[in-house]
Amino acid sequence: LPPTDAGAAMSAQPPADEDAVRAASIEKYRKRAAGYDATCGPTWPIRERTVALLGLQAGQSVLDVGCGTGLSLPLLRAAVGDTGRVHGFDQSPDMLAQARRRVAEAGWDNVDLFETAAQDLRLPGRVDALLFHYTHDILRSHSAIDALLACARPGAVVAIAGIKYFPRWLAPLNLWVYLKNHGYNGAPGELRTPWDRIAPRLVDWSISTTQYGMGYLARGRVPE
Ligand SMILES: C[S@@+](CC[C@H](N)C(=O)[O-])C[C@H]1O[C@@H](n2cnc3c(N)ncnc32)[C@H](O)[C@@H]1O
Repeated sequence: LPPTDAGAAMSAQPPADEDAVRAASIEKYRKRAAGYDATCGPTWPIRERTVALLGLQAGQSVLDVGCGTGLSLPLLRAAVGDTGRVHGFDQSPDMLAQARRRVAEAGWDNVDLFETAAQDLRLPGRVDALLFHYTHDILRSHSAIDALLACARPGAVVAIAGIKYFPRWLAPLNLWVYLKNHGYNGAPGELRTPWDRIAPRLVDWSISTTQYGMGYLARGRVPE
């Protein structure tokens, strides 16, 4: 188990083996997929705020990074309308199967879903916006960030929400945060500043905390 200053301890570790992290995540979501949506009620307002930060306009294109079961798809689809396009991808076949069902039931013909690792994603064009909603493993991977930013047009908006450690004065609670995160990620830990690999790649960066300090909401833009 991590010490209370787990973020500092974990960041001293060598970079994780990406294949092992991915395999661990796929296995966790194999077990978690069926019950996943039922756990997301409390974070629904954060999902709405994160999508709103994208400032999407009708006709734009947006990428739902690690889209999971597709809970954000209705919000994104509503924001870009009939003339826009939503792309989503996830490496977990169990999570993506639910997203595919959601798209089929809604009858959307401008939502594409791909079963792929973030690290391997290639899109035919460049999107106007990227949503990272609770995608910790992806944000800790330099190669995933490289691949995803290559799918964005210059000036594209990036909105990110996720879990982080409480501030130091609440450090004893961070054991609970670590264990909570452990259930959802192949590489749990590195929760002090989980955005610190993508933030330097963006401009107009802004960040605020949510959930009494154990969450964050951030926005930036891909440099022109
Ligand atoms: C906590 S879930 C969030 C799902 C969705 N974004 C949401 O807000 O409900 C994290 C998702 O990231 C996916 N994921 C983790 N690492 C990935 C990677 N390297 N490539 C693609 N998907 C990944 C997992 O399979 C999982 O569906």
